[in-house]
Amino acid sequence: MTRARIAVACLLAAVTGALAGSAAAEDLARGEALYGLCAQCHGSEATGSKLAEAPSLAGLPQWYMENQLHKFQDRTRGEHPGDITGLRMAPMSRALRSDEDLSAVAAYIASLPAHTPEPLLVGGDAARGKELFSLTCVACHGADAMGNQQMSSPPLRYASDWYLYRSLEKFRAGIRGANPADTVGATMRPMAMTLPDEQAMKDVIAYIHSLSE
Ligand code: HEC
Ligand code: HEC
Repeated sequence: MTRARIAVACLLAAVTGALAGSAAAEDLARGEALYGLCAQCHGSEATGSKLAEAPSLAGLPQWYMENQLHKFQDRTRGEHPGDITGLRMAPMSRALRSDEDLSAVAAYIASLPAHTPEPLLVGGDAARGKELFSLTCVACHGADAMGNQQMSSPPLRYASDWYLYRSLEKFRAGIRGANPADTVGATMRPMAMTLPDEQAMKDVIAYIHSLSE
C-alpha cells in the first residue's frame, strides 16, 4: 500500500468508528427516553420496587431482557390468568413499538450499574441452599449465579429475592414457562420442580443472595 492509501484507509476507519460510536450513543439516549415509562414501576435506577411488584432489572444483560420483552409482547409470558404481576407487565412491553425501541431500552437498562437489592425474605438457610444450588441450578446459571447466554439462563445474583421466590412459584404452578411456545421457559420449569418445598426455595435464594455479600 502506498502511504496515501494507508492514510485514506486510516481516515475511513476513524470515520466509521466515530459513526458507530455516535449511533450507539443515540441508541442509549433513545433507550433512556423510552425508559421513562418503565421507571414508574422499576425505579429510576432500575433497582425495582416491591410496592409496584416490579423486580430489579439492573445487572440483567441486554439479551435476556430482549428475550423476556419479546415473550411479553408475543403473549408467551404474562398471559396466564393466574399471573397477576405478569399481566401488569405485558401491556408495558407493547408500548415498545419496534424491535429497535425494544433493543434500545434493553441496552440502556443493561448500561446501568448492577445492584444487590436489600433482602426481604426471611428464614432461608444459605448453607442448605448451597447444596441445592450446586446440585442443579449451577449447570445453567453458573457457580457465581451470573447466568449463561448459551443456555438462555439469566444471572440470578442481582435479582430481588421476593421476585426470585415468586418466579419459582410460578414455574412450579405452570403459570410461567408452561406455554407451548415458550421453549426456553420449558427448560426451567422442571428445575423449579426439583426443589421439594417452600423452605428449599427460600434456602436456595438465601444462598444466591449470600454470593453478593
Ligand atoms: C405498571 C408497572 C410496570 C411498568 C410501567 C413496567 N414494568 Fe416491567 N415488570 C413489572 C412487573 C410487575 C414485572 C414482574 C412480572 C412477573 O412477576 O413475572 C415486570 C417484569 C419485567 C421484566 C422481566 C424481568 C425478569 O427478570 O425476567 C422486564 C425485562 C421488564 N419488566 C422490563 C420493563 C421495561 C423495559 C419497561 C418499560 C418499557 C417496563 N418493564 C415497564 C411492572 C412494570
Ligand atoms: C437446564 C437449565 C437450567 C437449570 C438447571 C436451572 N435453570 Fe433457572 N432458568 C433457566 C432458563 C433458561 C431461564 C429463563 C427462563 C425464561 O426465559 O423465562 C431460567 C430462569 C430462572 C428464574 C427466573 C429469573 C428471572 O429473572 O425471571 C429463576 C428464579 C431461576 N431460573 C432459578 C433457578 C434455580 C433456583 C435453579 C436450581 C433449582 C435453576 N434455576 C436451575 C435454566 C435453568
